[in-house]
Amino acid sequence: MDARPGSNEDLDEILSPEAVRDPYTYLGRLREQHPVHWNARYRSWVITSHADVSAAMSDARFSSDRIAPVIERERAKAEPKHDLIETLELLNGWLVFRDQPEHTRFRRLVHKAFSPRILSAMRPEVERIADELLQEAGAKARSEGTIDLIEEVAYPLPAIVIASMLGVPPEDRVLFKNWSDDISALIFGALEDPGRHARAQSGMSELVAYIKAHLARVRDEPGDDLASSLVQSRSGEDALTEPELVAICVNLLFGGHETTTNLIGNSILALIQHPEQAAMLREDPGLIDQAVEELLRYDGPAKAVVRIAGEDIEIGGQRIKQGDRVFLMLSSANHDPRVFEDPEKLDFNRGRSPHIAFGIGIHYCLGAILARLEATTVIPRILTRFPDIALADEELEWNEVILTRGLKRLPVRLHSD
Ligand code: HEM
Repeated sequence: MDARPGSNEDLDEILSPEAVRDPYTYLGRLREQHPVHWNARYRSWVITSHADVSAAMSDARFSSDRIAPVIERERAKAEPKHDLIETLELLNGWLVFRDQPEHTRFRRLVHKAFSPRILSAMRPEVERIADELLQEAGAKARSEGTIDLIEEVAYPLPAIVIASMLGVPPEDRVLFKNWSDDISALIFGALEDPGRHARAQSGMSELVAYIKAHLARVRDEPGDDLASSLVQSRSGEDALTEPELVAICVNLLFGGHETTTNLIGNSILALIQHPEQAAMLREDPGLIDQAVEELLRYDGPAKAVVRIAGEDIEIGGQRIKQGDRVFLMLSSANHDPRVFEDPEKLDFNRGRSPHIAFGIGIHYCLGAILARLEATTVIPRILTRFPDIALADEELEWNEVILTRGLKRLPVRLHSD
């Protein structure tokens, strides 16, 4: 163990079964006792107060560029895995891993393409996709009783929406699901499993080839979609390069998928567990925007973001050394009693909320408007179409990861008869 000032081994179990099931009690203890904590087990700092997390996210001394060092380490090995390096190089091009000043230029061009026109044009499409999925889920629940709401609705909705937004023809969307499952195994799974590694690698190559061909198609015949808009985006003489276009398309396909799935899953669970808030929302549908903000605060999908200290930095009396990894715990910041009265209570009448579920500063989530559109569309539809929705199993399994908060499955019954 690597003890330092700020260490306390009792508080290191960030992924204990209790902390995975209920991160808020564990994070609350950390925030009270060691708000800037050196976790010797994960060799990282864990920062938990709203003030410190917000300040660090707006501080350019904390870098988001954490893939380049992994590439360097892999290259330095006696037998480097070249296909792994290739994939990591693609990840390295993601907006979320870039620092200023590169990030500013890249984001400006991407932001122009994410125009309000493209987003508002998506509303009827999101409604149509949600209705279709809910109709299928309802029919399946009629014949089978229990269904997994993640598998039937929360997982496919954001995947179909982003593929449709990028202009991918409906018949090709199933390819995206397969590639995305394969590549997730590489990003989040066990690299040492050679079968999985090879599958992920070929998934990534096929996805990149597909995206390149799609970009070439929309260059020749631009449409109203986001891929056409990205290809055409200009800032003066500047435009996105081919590798940047490929990287941002993959980033959009992945960046927005798991998070939105988890927002829908966590929100429906919270509504089932708080029937009085669900009833309030059914009675007053105008509350939906406020309700989604509170659901993002109460059990948001991004538990933490990662930074690397670019130099020695002092926070809360602790000295973070250059090169140290830092977890900025958004979930803890969103339950900080110095900012939110009665933070463990789900309350749709909370009013304006300074939650940071979408981050803060230069990396503020680019897909926040889209994620809100999806959540405000599908949540009220689930509540009104299935007023008797109930948990089919009280034993819930959560993903055991530090960065995100989401259920493996959400088994529900949709009909009372
Ligand atoms: C509820 C759903 C979502 C949540 C909670 C969420 C959360 C976040 C957070 C916390 C960040 C900041 C990361 C950091 O500072 O290191 C971020 C960045 C980002 N998000 Fe989201 N996100 C969601 C949905 C989406 C969607 C739907 C998309 C796109 C279709 C998207 C695309 C991005 C991108 C491209 C960035 C990087 C922005 C940059 O670095 O400038 N996100 N997101």
